Amino acid sequence: MTDVRPTVSVDGPAVSHAGNPLSVLFQSDQGGHEQVVLCQDRESGLKAVIALHSTALGPALGGTRFHAYASDEEAVLDALNLARGMSYKNALAGLDHGGGKAVIIGDPASTEQGGIKSEELLLAYGRFVASLGGRYVTACDVGTYVADMDVVARENRWTTGRSPENGGAGDSSVLTAFGVFQGMRASAQHLWGTPTLRGRRVGVAGVGKVGHHLVAHLVEDGADVVITDVRSESIDRVRTTYPQVTVADSTSALITGELDVYAPCALGGALDDVSVPALTAKVVCGAANNQLAHPGVEKDLADRGVLYAPDYVVNAGGVIQVADELHGFDFDRAKAKATKIYDTTLAIFDRAQSEGIPPAEAADRIAEQRMAEARGH
Ligand SMILES: NC(=O)c1ccc[n+]([C@@H]2O[C@H](COP(=O)([O-])OP(=O)(O)OC[C@H]3O[C@@H](n4cnc5c(N)ncnc54)[C@H](O)[C@@H]3O)[C@@H](O)[C@H]2O)c1
Repeated sequence: MTDVRPTVSVDGPAVSHAGNPLSVLFQSDQGGHEQVVLCQDRESGLKAVIALHSTALGPALGGTRFHAYASDEEAVLDALNLARGMSYKNALAGLDHGGGKAVIIGDPASTEQGGIKSEELLLAYGRFVASLGGRYVTACDVGTYVADMDVVARENRWTTGRSPENGGAGDSSVLTAFGVFQGMRASAQHLWGTPTLRGRRVGVAGVGKVGHHLVAHLVEDGADVVITDVRSESIDRVRTTYPQVTVADSTSALITGELDVYAPCALGGALDDVSVPALTAKVVCGAANNQLAHPGVEKDLADRGVLYAPDYVVNAGGVIQVADELHGFDFDRAKAKATKIYDTTLAIFDRAQSEGIPPAEAADRIAEQRMAEARGH
């Protein structure tokens, strides 16, 4: 439990947290959820919720979030909403997996640091994952790390996001960045008729694990790259390798400067009522989860003529990687699958154009279609 961050982030599209858990569980518009398991282990203090939205395409796959929720209802709602998002993400990633998510309720710090995370608790959680017999495959998420998954995996065969020493794939940011780059190439193809960023000015906001790998792809492709980050170490690391990359003082300076492409690679909510009207870029394509701050932003982008590559589609490299772990991780095989993000993104833009809808909506429709076909209707 020594890692400081999860190496896999597998959120699907942003979803509403409103409503009461039972009405979300059985809501008819999305077909509801298949199964929700409430787990308690008194000895270790584990309280967890495992939500399976859909197994239409295969075992439900999604990470374990460890968070001190304000109430148990909030935890159940979060699990339900995140599980539903994973159904969409996995469907569009071309995976034979449905959507699921687990949340563990409590402070994710270790017991020595005043939280509740202990080996005993993670093992108890692993036994609950085992009890589902493979209907749910877990991974890291906010508050859980590779070292935690190594412990959870001791109790079942359905835990991914493990360390390479324990049969896992390790850091997912390499394939996540590669997938985002494929989405960006598809955006260039759709807008400019050529699948390259050569000669385009691309702004990357956040050059952490994913962002710095993305810069490498862009520089190699011949793009003119400008970056920003709140941490000077992150900027220095990029500039040491790529001195030709320029630096903007802030995200707002980045997006209001002349850009062809904006790549949000820091936090969620990057596209809101302030940033969207200020964008100079014609394309938004980045790794950050849940970029659209609220419903309706996708329409504002479309109205401004900005092509938006849906975040949960282009950042699926991480979930593609963890899914591959189940078969004995093979980097080349996972990379080949992540390459398909190019075709998927193009198909989404084509559908959006032909149906006169924003790409985010087209992505949802394609995912829903794949799930409905798998259910046989
Ligand atoms: N790591 C993955 O495999 C993966 C997969 C899918 C999605 N994502 C998403 O991509 C994003 C980046 O992930 P990461 O793993 O690179 O995280 P990271 O923490 O390694 O990098 C984020 C970077 O953003 C910077 N940052 C934070 N706030 C900022 C701000 N306001 N302005 C500019 N920079 C800021 C940080 O200093 C850091 O360098 C996150 O939203 C994450 O959820 C990551």
